Amino acid sequence: QLENLNQEKQLAAAVALRWVRSGMRVGLGSGSTAACFIRLLGDAVREGQLQIEATATSLASEQLAREVGIPLVEPRRGLRFDLTVDGADELDGDLQLLKGGGGALLREKIVAAASDYLLIIADSSKEVIKLGQFPLPLEVVPFALPWVLDAVAELGGEPVLRMHPHTGAEPAHSDQGNLLVDCHFQVVSDAPALAAHLKTIPGVVEHGLFLGMAQAAVVARGTSVVVLRP
Ligand code: A5P
Repeated sequence: QLENLNQEKQLAAAVALRWVRSGMRVGLGSGSTAACFIRLLGDAVREGQLQIEATATSLASEQLAREVGIPLVEPRRGLRFDLTVDGADELDGDLQLLKGGGGALLREKIVAAASDYLLIIADSSKEVIKLGQFPLPLEVVPFALPWVLDAVAELGGEPVLRMHPHTGAEPAHSDQGNLLVDCHFQVVSDAPALAAHLKTIPGVVEHGLFLGMAQAAVVARGTSVVVLRP
Protein backbone atom coordinates (compact mmCIF):
# COMPACT_ATOMS: atom_id res chain seq x y z
CA GLN A 1 0.00 0.00 0.00
CA LEU A 2 2.71 2.47 1.07
CA GLU A 3 4.82 1.46 -1.93
CA ASN A 4 1.84 2.13 -4.23
CA LEU A 5 1.25 5.55 -2.68
CA ASN A 6 4.92 6.42 -3.12
CA GLN A 7 4.66 5.49 -6.79
CA GLU A 8 1.56 7.67 -7.12
CA LYS A 9 3.38 10.63 -5.54
CA GLN A 10 6.27 10.15 -7.94
CA LEU A 11 3.88 9.94 -10.90
CA ALA A 12 1.93 13.08 -9.93
CA ALA A 13 5.21 14.96 -9.47
CA ALA A 14 6.48 13.85 -12.88
CA VAL A 15 3.29 15.00 -14.61
CA ALA A 16 3.41 18.36 -12.80
CA LEU A 17 6.80 19.02 -14.34
CA ARG A 18 4.94 19.63 -17.64
CA TRP A 19 3.52 22.86 -16.16
CA VAL A 20 7.01 24.36 -15.78
CA ARG A 21 8.50 26.57 -18.49
CA SER A 22 11.92 28.22 -18.60
CA GLY A 23 11.89 31.72 -17.18
CA MET A 24 9.24 30.95 -14.59
CA ARG A 25 9.44 31.82 -10.93
CA VAL A 26 8.28 28.71 -9.10
CA GLY A 27 7.01 28.22 -5.55
CA LEU A 28 8.14 24.94 -4.04
CA GLY A 29 5.77 23.15 -1.68
CA SER A 30 6.50 20.98 1.33
CA GLY A 31 5.99 17.33 2.21
CA SER A 32 6.93 14.08 0.54
CA THR A 33 5.06 14.63 -2.76
CA ALA A 34 6.51 18.13 -3.16
CA ALA A 35 9.93 16.63 -2.42
CA CYS A 36 9.50 14.25 -5.40
CA PHE A 37 8.73 17.29 -7.55
CA ILE A 38 11.72 19.27 -6.24
CA ARG A 39 14.05 16.38 -7.07
CA LEU A 40 12.67 16.05 -10.62
CA LEU A 41 12.83 19.82 -11.12
CA GLY A 42 16.42 19.78 -9.89
CA ASP A 43 17.27 17.08 -12.46
CA ALA A 44 15.81 19.22 -15.27
CA VAL A 45 17.69 22.31 -14.04
CA ARG A 46 21.02 20.51 -13.76
CA GLU A 47 20.58 18.97 -17.20
CA GLY A 48 19.97 22.46 -18.60
CA GLN A 49 16.41 21.69 -19.75
CA LEU A 50 14.82 24.34 -17.52
CA GLN A 51 16.04 27.69 -16.27
CA ILE A 52 13.93 28.84 -13.36
CA GLU A 53 14.12 30.61 -10.02
CA ALA A 54 12.34 29.29 -6.97
CA THR A 55 11.33 30.03 -3.41
CA ALA A 56 10.60 27.23 -0.93
CA THR A 57 7.75 26.99 1.57
CA SER A 58 9.79 25.33 4.33
CA LEU A 59 13.35 25.07 5.54
CA ALA A 60 13.31 21.37 4.60
CA SER A 61 12.25 22.10 1.01
CA GLU A 62 14.76 24.94 0.82
CA GLN A 63 17.58 22.62 1.86
CA LEU A 64 16.47 19.98 -0.65
CA ALA A 65 16.21 22.57 -3.43
CA ARG A 66 19.72 23.72 -2.66
CA GLU A 67 21.02 20.15 -2.70
CA VAL A 68 19.53 19.45 -6.13
CA GLY A 69 20.79 22.70 -7.64
CA ILE A 70 17.66 24.86 -7.93
CA PRO A 71 18.48 28.60 -7.79
CA LEU A 72 16.61 30.23 -4.90
CA VAL A 73 15.36 33.77 -4.47
CA GLU A 74 14.45 35.46 -1.19
CA PRO A 75 11.07 37.11 -0.62
CA ARG A 76 11.02 40.70 -1.82
CA ARG A 77 8.42 43.32 -2.71
CA GLY A 78 6.70 42.68 -6.01
CA LEU A 79 7.81 39.05 -6.16
CA ARG A 80 5.14 36.85 -7.77
CA PHE A 81 5.28 33.20 -8.68
CA ASP A 82 4.10 32.02 -12.09
CA LEU A 83 3.49 28.58 -10.65
CA THR A 84 3.54 26.95 -7.23
CA VAL A 85 3.52 23.17 -6.93
CA ASP A 86 2.53 21.81 -3.54
CA GLY A 87 1.00 18.74 -1.92
CA ALA A 88 -2.10 18.50 0.24
CA ASP A 89 -3.37 16.34 3.07
CA GLU A 90 -6.94 16.33 1.72
CA LEU A 91 -8.67 17.72 -1.37
CA ASP A 92 -12.35 17.66 -2.25
CA GLY A 93 -14.18 17.83 -5.58
CA ASP A 94 -14.19 21.65 -5.53
CA LEU A 95 -10.43 21.69 -4.93
CA GLN A 96 -10.87 22.93 -1.41
CA LEU A 97 -7.71 21.84 0.38
CA LEU A 98 -6.71 20.83 3.87
CA LYS A 99 -2.96 21.34 4.33
CA GLY A 100 -0.32 21.65 7.01
CA GLY A 101 0.28 18.05 8.01
CA GLY A 102 3.96 18.83 7.56
CA GLY A 103 3.61 21.99 9.64
CA ALA A 104 4.48 24.35 6.77
CA LEU A 105 0.98 25.79 6.28
CA LEU A 106 1.88 29.42 6.94
CA ARG A 107 4.63 29.75 4.35
CA GLU A 108 2.65 27.53 2.01
CA LYS A 109 -0.28 29.92 2.16
CA ILE A 110 1.95 32.99 1.80
CA VAL A 111 3.55 31.57 -1.34
CA ALA A 112 0.22 30.29 -2.72
CA ALA A 113 -1.28 33.77 -2.28
CA ALA A 114 1.64 35.26 -4.21
CA SER A 115 1.18 32.76 -7.05
CA ASP A 116 -0.69 33.14 -10.31
CA TYR A 117 -1.25 29.39 -10.46
CA LEU A 118 -1.33 26.85 -7.63
CA LEU A 119 -0.96 23.27 -8.81
CA ILE A 120 -1.60 20.53 -6.25
CA ILE A 121 0.04 17.14 -6.61
CA ALA A 122 -1.36 14.22 -4.67
CA ASP A 123 -1.69 10.48 -4.40
CA SER A 124 -5.17 8.95 -4.48
CA SER A 125 -5.43 8.71 -0.68
CA LYS A 126 -5.83 12.51 -0.48
CA GLU A 127 -9.16 12.64 -2.33
CA VAL A 128 -12.14 13.05 0.00
CA ILE A 129 -15.84 13.86 -0.30
CA LYS A 130 -15.71 16.19 2.73
CA LEU A 131 -12.66 17.72 4.39
CA GLY A 132 -11.93 17.13 8.06
CA GLN A 133 -11.06 13.50 8.59
CA PHE A 134 -7.44 14.63 8.61
CA PRO A 135 -6.91 16.94 11.61
CA LEU A 136 -6.88 20.59 10.58
CA PRO A 137 -3.63 22.30 11.65
CA LEU A 138 -3.39 25.80 13.08
CA GLU A 139 -0.19 27.78 13.52
CA VAL A 140 -0.49 29.46 16.91
CA VAL A 141 1.53 32.09 18.78
CA PRO A 142 2.75 30.30 21.96
CA PHE A 143 1.30 32.86 24.41
CA ALA A 144 -2.17 32.41 22.94
CA LEU A 145 -2.23 28.60 23.18
CA PRO A 146 -4.65 28.05 26.10
CA TRP A 147 -7.28 30.41 24.68
CA VAL A 148 -6.90 28.98 21.19
CA LEU A 149 -7.50 25.48 22.59
CA ASP A 150 -10.68 26.76 24.29
CA ALA A 151 -11.89 28.47 21.13
CA VAL A 152 -11.31 25.41 18.94
CA ALA A 153 -13.10 23.15 21.42
CA GLU A 154 -16.05 25.55 21.32
CA LEU A 155 -16.11 25.21 17.53
CA GLY A 156 -16.41 21.44 17.94
CA GLY A 157 -12.93 20.38 16.89
CA GLU A 158 -10.95 18.48 19.49
CA PRO A 159 -7.64 20.39 19.65
CA VAL A 160 -4.38 18.50 20.09
CA LEU A 161 -1.05 20.28 20.55
CA ARG A 162 1.39 18.77 18.06
CA MET A 163 4.42 17.23 19.72
CA HIS A 164 7.94 16.93 18.34
CA PRO A 165 7.90 14.02 15.86
CA HIS A 166 11.12 12.47 17.16
CA THR A 167 11.21 13.09 20.89
CA GLY A 168 7.44 13.33 21.50
CA ALA A 169 8.37 15.01 24.77
CA GLU A 170 8.20 18.67 23.82
CA PRO A 171 5.87 20.60 21.50
CA ALA A 172 6.71 20.81 17.81
CA HIS A 173 7.60 24.25 16.50
CA SER A 174 6.97 25.65 13.04
CA ASP A 175 9.76 27.20 10.96
CA GLN A 176 8.60 30.52 12.46
CA GLY A 177 8.93 29.23 16.05
CA ASN A 178 5.18 28.99 16.62
CA LEU A 179 3.14 26.05 17.93
CA LEU A 180 0.93 23.76 15.87
CA VAL A 181 -2.52 22.67 17.01
CA ASP A 182 -4.24 19.80 15.16
CA CYS A 183 -8.01 20.18 15.29
CA HIS A 184 -10.05 16.98 14.97
CA PHE A 185 -13.33 17.97 13.35
CA GLN A 186 -13.95 14.61 11.60
CA VAL A 187 -16.18 16.42 9.05
CA VAL A 188 -15.98 20.08 8.03
CA SER A 189 -19.44 20.74 6.62
CA ASP A 190 -18.92 24.44 5.81
CA ALA A 191 -15.24 25.09 5.11
CA PRO A 192 -15.57 28.83 4.26
CA ALA A 193 -17.50 29.48 7.50
CA LEU A 194 -14.96 27.56 9.58
CA ALA A 195 -12.05 29.35 7.86
CA ALA A 196 -13.63 32.73 8.58
CA HIS A 197 -14.20 31.77 12.21
CA LEU A 198 -10.66 30.53 12.77
CA LYS A 199 -9.28 33.80 11.39
CA THR A 200 -11.01 35.72 14.18
CA ILE A 201 -9.27 33.85 17.02
CA PRO A 202 -6.45 36.05 18.37
CA GLY A 203 -3.13 34.22 18.22
CA VAL A 204 -4.10 31.96 15.31
CA VAL A 205 -1.58 33.02 12.72
CA GLU A 206 -2.91 30.72 10.01
CA HIS A 207 -5.07 27.66 9.43
CA GLY A 208 -4.71 24.81 6.97
CA LEU A 209 -7.85 25.42 4.89
CA PHE A 210 -6.86 26.59 1.40
CA LEU A 211 -10.11 27.63 -0.27
CA GLY A 212 -10.40 29.00 -3.80
CA MET A 213 -6.63 28.95 -4.16
CA ALA A 214 -5.81 25.93 -6.33
CA GLN A 215 -6.19 26.22 -10.11
CA ALA A 216 -5.68 22.50 -10.70
CA ALA A 217 -4.69 19.24 -9.04
CA VAL A 218 -2.74 16.37 -10.53
CA VAL A 219 -3.92 13.25 -8.73
CA ALA A 220 -2.38 9.87 -9.42
CA ARG A 221 -4.73 6.91 -9.17
CA GLY A 222 -2.67 3.77 -9.51
CA THR A 223 -0.79 4.07 -12.78
CA SER A 224 -3.07 6.72 -14.29
CA VAL A 225 -3.35 10.44 -13.61
CA VAL A 226 -6.32 12.78 -13.54
CA VAL A 227 -6.16 16.56 -13.67
CA LEU A 228 -8.91 18.10 -11.54
CA ARG A 229 -10.08 21.70 -11.76
CA PRO A 230 -12.46 23.52 -9.44
C1 A5P B 1 2.81 20.45 4.52
O1 A5P B 1 2.63 21.38 5.51
C2 A5P B 1 1.50 19.97 4.00
O2 A5P B 1 0.65 21.00 3.64
C3 A5P B 1 1.78 19.03 2.86
O3 A5P B 1 1.41 19.61 1.64
C4 A5P B 1 1.05 17.80 3.12
O4 A5P B 1 1.35 17.35 4.42
C5 A5P B 1 1.28 16.73 2.08
O5 A5P B 1 2.37 15.95 2.39
P1 A5P B 1 2.71 14.61 1.64
O6 A5P B 1 2.99 15.00 0.23
O7 A5P B 1 3.94 14.11 2.34
O8 A5P B 1 1.55 13.71 1.79
